[in-house]
Amino acid sequence: MTVKRVTTVTLQEMKGRGEKITMLTAYDYPIGRFLDEVGIEVVLVGDSLAMVGLGYETTLPVTMEEMLHHVRAVGRGVRRALLVADMPFGSYQASVEEGIRNAGRFLKEAGAQAVKLEGGGEVANLTRRLVGVGIPVMGHLGLTPQMVHQFGGFKVQARTATAAEHVLDEALLLEEAGIFALVLESIPWQVAQVITKELRIPTIGIGAGSCCDGQVLVTNDLLGLFDDFTPKFVKHYAGLKETITGAFMQYRQEVKDGQFPGPKHAFSLDETESRRWEQHLARRHRQIKTIGRG
Ligand code: KIV
Repeated sequence: MTVKRVTTVTLQEMKGRGEKITMLTAYDYPIGRFLDEVGIEVVLVGDSLAMVGLGYETTLPVTMEEMLHHVRAVGRGVRRALLVADMPFGSYQASVEEGIRNAGRFLKEAGAQAVKLEGGGEVANLTRRLVGVGIPVMGHLGLTPQMVHQFGGFKVQARTATAAEHVLDEALLLEEAGIFALVLESIPWQVAQVITKELRIPTIGIGAGSCCDGQVLVTNDLLGLFDDFTPKFVKHYAGLKETITGAFMQYRQEVKDGQFPGPKHAFSLDETESRRWEQHLARRHRQIKTIGRG
């Protein structure tokens, strides 16, 4: 059965009718599939993969090849949602040409339908060119984690009126450059509210309050799978770390106690083969005894 795919146009229509957009991250096939099955509209293979999946302290080390590998895996599970690939640090900053080549790889080799770029004015030209060649671009402003060293840590942005106005101007510039949606991360809700009103395209908030047109979280945060640190904006919808470690502990104990595997987890010979097996063993014993005596 063919499934109707969520597109950039769908998201625009949702903003038009005031229907909230849901977006979550995925890094592998099963999570991609589950998100798709429950009707999440946008699945982002975020470069947060570096931190929550690969154990790095920032998002900076993840490479193009690693991102492509994970986008392909997620893509195999996502049939309905819009699949967005995050452009990793270093894959689009050196030149517009390199950015176009790398963005193209996500659509051509990994099955993404759009890419996400962090930054404002500095990515406006690249955004225009990508949109011009048919690659939809999602923007990302506020706390852009690829700038963590420039910001001096994962800090809330746009906390002053001047800084807030700068983010608003950048948002308008990106809209003019052709982005189809804008992620707003870790900014005061009042700033996100105004940006959401001023833009025609949808805003997707993470730590930006409830006025945005949609919301996104890092799935591993939502599931309680990542506890290195928890930003204020994260809500744990499940405590999977406890569930998972509980299961591991129980398995370990049952193996040590000889409780697992039980009879229902074992394969058995049927009656005929069981008899033959006994006969084979008896013959082997007789042969060994004969050889032993000779
Ligand atoms: O990398 C990521 O997961 C993101 C989301 C937090 C928006 O950029």
